[in-house]
Amino acid sequence: MNKIDLILANPTFNEHMERICKAEEDRIYCLHGMEHLLDVARIAYIINLEKELGFSKETIYAMSLLHDIGRNLEYEKGLSHHEIGGVIALDILTQVGFSNEEKELICQAIRSHKELGDKEDNCSLNYLLYRADKLSRNCFSCKAKDSCYWDESKKNKGIIV
Ligand SMILES: [Fe+2]
Repeated sequence: MNKIDLILANPTFNEHMERICKAEEDRIYCLHGMEHLLDVARIAYIINLEKELGFSKETIYAMSLLHDIGRNLEYEKGLSHHEIGGVIALDILTQVGFSNEEKELICQAIRSHKELGDKEDNCSLNYLLYRADKLSRNCFSCKAKDSCYWDESKKNKGIIV
């Protein structure tokens, strides 16, 4: 089985996904289920190709599938899903056989996908996750956009072509 299918079959991954989906049953704002994770993966891979960044499909899909894995602990315990997500992702990436170098790269991107530092290199995996995560949200057609906490400047008001 390839490493991406191993993540999908991983019990830790599935336990968190179930708890996230349950916690978001009545949520009117952005959801963090499989649809979002795959939107992020596909957008990140398109940017990767367009900008010729050279990251592997496996790295991008693993990062995207795991980037919000700490969400349930944010809902349940008030923890930062970026920080705790990096810890959970490290465990899952280890279980499915990623190298230390790949794990460090992916977990760093997960930990920092809330905000980019001023000096963030726009060819980095951190940048790729941040951009794809933001671009994945269809604010222009969202019924909850007026009460959403996102700063107006961050909302996607149209489709970038
Ligand atoms: Fe996300």
